[in-house]
Amino acid sequence: MPVITSIADLKRIYHRRVPKMFYDYAESGSWTEQTFRENTSDFSKIYLRQRVAVDMDGRSTASQMIGQDVAMPVGLAPVGLTGMQHADGEIKAARAAGKFGVPYTLSTMSICSIEDVAENTDAPFWMQVYTLKDDDFMQRLFDRAKAAKCSAAMITVDLQVLGQRHKDLKNGLSAPPKLTPASVANMMTKVHWGLGMLGTKRRFFGNIVGHAKGVTDPSSLSTWTSEAFDPSLNWDRIREFRKMWDGPLIIKGIMDPRDAREALNVGADAIIVSNHGGRQLDGALSAIRALPAILDAVGDKIEVHIDSGIRTGQDVLKALAMGAKGTYIGRAYVYGLGAMGEAGVTRALEVIHKELDVSMALCGRRDVRTLDRDILMIPEGFEGRWQA
Ligand code: GLV
Repeated sequence: MPVITSIADLKRIYHRRVPKMFYDYAESGSWTEQTFRENTSDFSKIYLRQRVAVDMDGRSTASQMIGQDVAMPVGLAPVGLTGMQHADGEIKAARAAGKFGVPYTLSTMSICSIEDVAENTDAPFWMQVYTLKDDDFMQRLFDRAKAAKCSAAMITVDLQVLGQRHKDLKNGLSAPPKLTPASVANMMTKVHWGLGMLGTKRRFFGNIVGHAKGVTDPSSLSTWTSEAFDPSLNWDRIREFRKMWDGPLIIKGIMDPRDAREALNVGADAIIVSNHGGRQLDGALSAIRALPAILDAVGDKIEVHIDSGIRTGQDVLKALAMGAKGTYIGRAYVYGLGAMGEAGVTRALEVIHKELDVSMALCGRRDVRTLDRDILMIPEGFEGRWQA
């Protein structure tokens, strides 16, 4: 096994080991992928302020997200079909996160079900919730999360309709994968992945199959999202969901100060500034450019977190210094998972942690909880601000 020193190393191995269909699923943005690309490239437009001869001893990356202790403020974002990137992927990722001391968020679109993850892990995890039309399903989803002792619910509000990712349509993305000459030929070259899949029963959308009504093809993400998701979702309905869940609530997918205020009004404990990793509205601002205006609008009243585009500890440092209280990685840990299973997720977390810790030191700071904009140079015009 080669020496792994970066997330890019994990991505190279991931690319070799995982079938094209699932690599493409993770590695795509919607339509032209402008927002997908800018999510990462905009981080590199912000500069860090190097300081020297400053006491860098006794550093700490420990913090809290929604009042819960974290070894660093970097959660694992919900990622659909994680259990197709590696056999039992959600359980493996949740175990790595639990041991590292950061939150794991299980997607509604996961392969391993809520109950399965709870039975096979020790640390409490967070449950990501998609908003379906079926009220019974929704109430049961919150009840199931509660019974599984999930320590937060995260409602995603930016996927009432699915953004188009060209490759998923061309590949016929499904779980389990449909067997076509092209998919079979490709899977036959992925021996490690295939052996893992043969050794597990977890190959279906575990939270949906047997739970959601009115879905004609539960193996196809695009079919069941278009049939079951609620395109008429509004803030009143989100208020109803707030009543179905009495634990900490995070609202994910906020890109506009107006929506941030609405999320505050429904009684969320935190919001996530997120454009869904550039997978929904192509042409939206990158998340890091959207962050400042949202912080100005609600940052003193509610915890503001960010995902979309974070691939390094330096990105984490920039987001925290800008004012976010928490960050999330999605693809960065999926690369590790697809490359090496649980050990790969651990490695991804170690890489990000070291980058964060050492870069913080080189900025002359010792505590992630007291970072501020003083260590950032943000170019003029960088901050995305809409007219009121
Ligand atoms: C689901 O959340 C997706 O982006 O595919």
